[in-house]
Amino acid sequence: MAIRNIREIGDAVLTKKCKEVKEVSERTLELIDDMFETMYEANGVGLAAPQVGILKRIVVIDTTGEDPIVLINPVILETSGEQTGQEGCLSVPGKYGIVTRPNYVKVAAYNEEMEPIEVEGTELLARALCHEIAHLEGQLYVELVEGGLKDVEPYEDEEYED
Ligand code: NI
Repeated sequence: MAIRNIREIGDAVLTKKCKEVKEVSERTLELIDDMFETMYEANGVGLAAPQVGILKRIVVIDTTGEDPIVLINPVILETSGEQTGQEGCLSVPGKYGIVTRPNYVKVAAYNEEMEPIEVEGTELLARALCHEIAHLEGQLYVELVEGGLKDVEPYEDEEYED
């Protein structure tokens, strides 16, 4: 496993449409492991392959730290409801914005064995599913932000004060 370099907004790779995965090779499995490690190290809840420079339709998500989900060639089947809340992206560091998303999302995809799976989520998981699948189309959440991007307040800790 290895931590990969996270591409940031302005990098053309983040604006490209990703290709379908036809088979899961050893290299694909290594990529998936690396994506999890990179996401956890950056304290993210989701990461899409283009964010590490790979134009393949692969997403990893873990909204609780205990529920890793791999989605290969994911497709949104169903959405309902609405939620409006804060969203950020590891490719847009130091920023967040308010985005409205469906409150429920159902996705069809393949797992690492290329077996068909379905994943349903509400609230944060629904938001993560929409956000990560949009990355595969070359879309960033910044296009959907209401009221402009905001700066994350700098982390304050007494240890770092004089
Ligand atoms: Ni993102």
